[in-house]
Amino acid sequence: MTPRTGLFISFEGIDGAGKSTHIEAVAQAFEAQGRAVTRTREPGGTPLAERLREMVLNAPMDALTESLLVFAARRDHIAQVIAPALAEGRVVLCDRFSDATFAYQGGGRGFDWQLLQTLEHWVQQQGVPGTALLQPDLTLWFDLPASVAAARLASARVPDKFEAQPQAFFEAVAAGYARRLAEQPKRFARIDANVAIDAVRTQVLAALRGKGCLA
Ligand code: TYD
Repeated sequence: MTPRTGLFISFEGIDGAGKSTHIEAVAQAFEAQGRAVTRTREPGGTPLAERLREMVLNAPMDALTESLLVFAARRDHIAQVIAPALAEGRVVLCDRFSDATFAYQGGGRGFDWQLLQTLEHWVQQQGVPGTALLQPDLTLWFDLPASVAAARLASARVPDKFEAQPQAFFEAVAAGYARRLAEQPKRFARIDANVAIDAVRTQVLAALRGKGCLA
């Protein structure tokens, strides 16, 4: 496997938590320090993975099928985009990664957590058992009460399959994120997203500095 010299940061949260807004500011902060930045998203980030995204977000399917498709998309994304960018020393900013699978398919849909961990090992060891698991160096979790997120989404665009779910689904998704944070606390920074946008940005930049990612 290629040695990693870059920095891998993922952005997570329930739909409506506002994470996408902050990726741009983070990209600018790294670029201002002379770092090359790759901005990408999951499911997606490659032509094949974007086709899988279209299916996952629109077609009804059971939770196992959904989990296999998001991990298949992730496998292609890691191989084509993430691993090469990290090997070049770039900063990879990814709008969602595996924590979203644990939160949405595990928490939201109630799918087997251990089976997801098995898939995670298959995919994030890049098909080479025994090698280190590729994980973000830092995950920014934009935490927002499901009721607030629902109110924000109500005034937004036409909802996709997940965005159309009831509030209880997003409470279960948020519980999935909280479980991941409890399992891997060092990798996470919890951002209180229930404040004004500038205050969220301040927390994001403070988390990046606190974790030693930004000078
Ligand atoms: P999202 O990241 O919110 O993109 P946009 O801002 O364009 O709507 O949408 C991705 C959706 O896919 C979101 O509802 C969460 C879901 N998802 C999963 O269910 N499992 C996964 O593993 C990933 C990465 C996303």
